[in-house]
Amino acid sequence: MGNTILTLENISVTFDGFKAVQNVSTHIEQGELRFFIGPNGAGKTTLLDVICGKIKPVSGDVIFKGKNILKKKEHEIVNIGIGRKFQVPSVFTSLTIYENMQLAYAPKKTLVNSLFSRQDKQEKEKIEKILVKTSLADHKDEVAGALSHGQKQWLEIAMLLVTGHNLLLMDEPVAGMGRAETDKTGELLKEVAKTCSVIVVEHDMEFVRSFANSVTVLHEGKVLCEGPMEQVQNDPRVIEVYLGRGRETDAQNQ
Ligand SMILES: Nc1ncnc2c1ncn2[C@@H]1O[C@H](COP(=O)(O)OP(=O)(O)OP(=O)(O)O)[C@@H](O)[C@H]1O
Ligand SMILES: [Mg+2]
Repeated sequence: MGNTILTLENISVTFDGFKAVQNVSTHIEQGELRFFIGPNGAGKTTLLDVICGKIKPVSGDVIFKGKNILKKKEHEIVNIGIGRKFQVPSVFTSLTIYENMQLAYAPKKTLVNSLFSRQDKQEKEKIEKILVKTSLADHKDEVAGALSHGQKQWLEIAMLLVTGHNLLLMDEPVAGMGRAETDKTGELLKEVAKTCSVIVVEHDMEFVRSFANSVTVLHEGKVLCEGPMEQVQNDPRVIEVYLGRGRETDAQNQ
């Protein structure tokens, strides 16, 4: 730690005059597993959209690896090392897991080229290593459409890893997963964070408690509180606007 990979400086976003994000500043270190939490409409997804260039803020700066990336387009931001995982996995269901990985490894090749050209040793080794990491190695010749919901999510994470991004953004990656799959995803994200910083937006508080290095709590577009989970979950403001309600929901679910 101690090496900042991403800095958000006074980011504000408005939608038709509505202030969805207001003066948000934070920085993410290399190898950090950061969670953005907070009530519905707090601005969490909007912030991820700003980082990946999908939404341009009305003010503020986004500094990635020391460079201001505010003016870059979405595809340029992907190319310099920021990957985004959406809630619905974007995998090719009729291709095998391995073929999906080949496509992710060389997105600029055509489909036919990446599937039929001779693979270099480096590509094969990298893909296989990541498939082991994501518990998909035993399924590599199965079509992605046959995977469970959780496995599809892991495949998408695997596809992001093979591209060698430095920062991954994930919006509610464990939504729709059972506890066992959720815990496995957390272990996977911890592993991912060894080589790549990760920002996760999540409502599942048990998941956040188990795996977060640090947490940013957003409320009505502003940073309410930020720090290690132990500190954040005891902050009376956080309990009032978010965790109090979350605990009731947890209790109802048990
Ligand atoms: N494209 C848009 N146009 C207008 N308003 C928007 C748009 N996107 C988001 N908003 C509004 O901005 C606010 C922040 O939305 P955002 O999706 O970032 O919240 P969130 O923290 O991700 O919430 P959730 O936990 O429900 O996903 C909300 O009030 C939302 O209605
Ligand atoms: Mg959201």
